[in-house]
Amino acid sequence: MFEREVYEKRREKLREILEDGLVLILGNDEAPMNYPANPYHFRQDSNFLYFFGLDEPGLAGIMDMEEEGGDIIFGDDIDVEDVIWMGPSPSLKEKAEQVGIKKTRPFNSLQDFLRDAISRGRKVHFLPPYRGEHLLRLAHLLGIRPEAVKHWVSVDLIRAVVELRSVKGPEEIQQMEIASDITAEMHLRAMKRARAGMYERELAGEIEGLAISLGGYISFPVILTIRGEILHNHYHGHILREGQLLLVDAGAESPLHYAGDMTRTFPVSGKFTPRQKEIYEIVLSAQKKAIENIKPGVYYREIHLLAARIMAEGLKELGLMKGDVEEAVSQGAHALFFPHGLGHMIGLDVHDMEGLGEDYVGYDETVKRSDQFGLAYLRLARKLQEGFTLTVEPGIYFIPALIEKWKGEGKHREFIDYDKVEEYLDFGGIRIEESVVVTDEGCRILGKPVPKEPDEVESLRA
Ligand code: GLY
Repeated sequence: MFEREVYEKRREKLREILEDGLVLILGNDEAPMNYPANPYHFRQDSNFLYFFGLDEPGLAGIMDMEEEGGDIIFGDDIDVEDVIWMGPSPSLKEKAEQVGIKKTRPFNSLQDFLRDAISRGRKVHFLPPYRGEHLLRLAHLLGIRPEAVKHWVSVDLIRAVVELRSVKGPEEIQQMEIASDITAEMHLRAMKRARAGMYERELAGEIEGLAISLGGYISFPVILTIRGEILHNHYHGHILREGQLLLVDAGAESPLHYAGDMTRTFPVSGKFTPRQKEIYEIVLSAQKKAIENIKPGVYYREIHLLAARIMAEGLKELGLMKGDVEEAVSQGAHALFFPHGLGHMIGLDVHDMEGLGEDYVGYDETVKRSDQFGLAYLRLARKLQEGFTLTVEPGIYFIPALIEKWKGEGKHREFIDYDKVEEYLDFGGIRIEESVVVTDEGCRILGKPVPKEPDEVESLRA
């Protein structure tokens, strides 16, 4: 974990934003895979990690917004049976002291503590639960029906947490560099090892294992596919064949659970075909221009639209799109090829804070979510600030079902040459992604560089 002062300062800052009440943050518990004692890899709740740092199940934290020193960790000391099966562990008191908390109480006293506070008229702020178990626990602790929990979620707390977690401190950037370095190693390994005749799963397993061996864990399930047009394709059962493109979208967590996220698309044979290279260069140019234009004060929505225009321009040069590029993008015609947003916040979660509600994280009173197909999926639209960390991940995809649907509807016929597009139905998709940190006058790519220029990719593949 970080130094104790980091957690003390975070809780102090929350107290400066939220005027009153208690804040309840539930830590995660073990989640069973197929029977109770056989759990998935444990992942602590990111908000609990942010304020309380302790990376183990069975804990809850209370922060008192009106009393410095009123913060409490609820949990239990382990007994001799736990020691036999899981090994020794410091006492709860010792662990709490490591993050600057003096008060600890048994977990089963949390309900009485909260009900007593509520009976004295104190407000209890809590965040939206994303696990069914937490939904039920909140209902039980607070004496409300599970269906009512969502009505009592604290929007003030959501906004305060988003304000704090959006701007990363130097210790967080350092963790994100570590995560991005491990992520880079995963991609370099896939780029060096991919060969025609292999199964996708051989590579997917290898890079996941590499993340673990380097001290991380995957930050989201590995996407490694020759069907790159399926945006989040987790199927790994195809055999790689000469002439295909392989899209790898994968990332690792740092030891303190900050996420890496990167995408590379490269030819299974050593070289891009001319057609693959043409599309690749369009995506690369959009990605590089987007990165060049990121700086504090710029709306990420504008960067998304800039990338969209560059890709529409490139597709027009190839005869796939036509007409006025500005108009095509403003009407959303490019979304046939680029149906997702340019990127998202990244931090303790790969889609940082998404569980709190995307609109609180990526939008504000100055920019509202569009309902236009494509633009509507943009997770981050708001004005960028120094210290934000985010992904930049344009892509061009040929999605047969979408092409067929739009063609059938005659959609955006003035901007799309469907006859030409149909020549690309077997193309797949290309995405190129990096994570960046917004600096005082621009942005910096996180982690060790991984080739993305076509000639660099080809020489690495060779
Ligand atoms: N890189 C995976 C995602 O952004 O969802």
